[in-house]
Amino acid sequence: METVLSGIRPTGNLHLGNYFGAVQAFVKLQHAYNCFFFIADWHSLTTHPKPDNIRNSVKIILAEYLACGIDPEKATIYVQSDVREVAELYLYLNMNAYLGELERVTSFKDKVRSQPDNINAGLLTYPSLMAADIIIHKAHKVPVGKDQEQNMEMARRFARRFNMIYGVEYFTEPQSFHLTDKAMKVPGLDGSGKMGKSEGNAIYLIDDEKTIKKKVMKAVTDSGPTEPNSEKPEAIANLFTLLEIVSSKDTYDYFNEKYNQCEIRYGDLKKQLAEDINAFCSPIRKRIIEIASDEDYMKKVAGLGAAKARESAAKTLREVREIIGFRS
Ligand code: TYM
Repeated sequence: METVLSGIRPTGNLHLGNYFGAVQAFVKLQHAYNCFFFIADWHSLTTHPKPDNIRNSVKIILAEYLACGIDPEKATIYVQSDVREVAELYLYLNMNAYLGELERVTSFKDKVRSQPDNINAGLLTYPSLMAADIIIHKAHKVPVGKDQEQNMEMARRFARRFNMIYGVEYFTEPQSFHLTDKAMKVPGLDGSGKMGKSEGNAIYLIDDEKTIKKKVMKAVTDSGPTEPNSEKPEAIANLFTLLEIVSSKDTYDYFNEKYNQCEIRYGDLKKQLAEDINAFCSPIRKRIIEIASDEDYMKKVAGLGAAKARESAAKTLREVREIIGFRS
């Protein structure tokens, strides 16, 4: 049976981008595949969080993922730092990762620009840790959003390179997985780019009705089209993309038609969008609160997941050590 793996950095609450970019696909696949889901707490160390922040964020993300429908009876859910074999594989992959290729990764270059005072080695080698996360369980499919495409390409490259250096066909080259024909990029509400926690433009699954409405009503728009069937500027296209994701086809078609006839009232569109986002988030929100209050349950889930993930990772590491020439 093929293996599916997905992960998230615990640096804030889950937003619609995380859900529609990765979680939704994972939840769908969990019934038919051997599935691993993990919380990438080592990755989050690149921003130097305080110990309490890490503890809290890991707990929140775990509750949120369970609330989204990840079933611990079907998928193995674990915290990255519980599986130390990942760090060992990261070390081996780093020996075959070159400075030039790591420096060319777009997200690294962005960080160099945005946080010049903290360009640490963890940021540089982020793609090799991510590759270790994935190939340690020999994952075939990795549900991710568009922003992770370059990291996925690096993971394939590191898997291939390991096989080539040691003359083996050991690691599988992992493929990105999306439910639609192309990778998902859920837009933000600020008129440009993707929805993200660091972009400050996100709607979180935990947001209540009032917060959602406030955020959506503030979304950037323009004065409306003056020619029928005009192309939508980015800010407007983004609102329509969100509508396409959370609303019914009829609703989308209705507003699209209004836009094409130059009769669009953005206030009505936003009101409907806010309502539909709330209808989507509200049951998840209730489950998050319920699950987060049951610490024993969460501890049990993380403990069982860690044991299962460690077993799978340890097997890979025994074989990898043998291939490299170490005592197994
Ligand atoms: P992270 O924590 O930034 O995001 C988690 C997942 O959510 C997706 N995502 C989006 N998808 C579509 N539109 C958006 N606006 C949007 N925002 C976020 C991301 O693509 C991702 O799938 N490096 C990873 C964490 C990670 C990982 C891994 C993922 C570490 N090791 C191994 C998969 C496999 C990250 O920072 O994702």
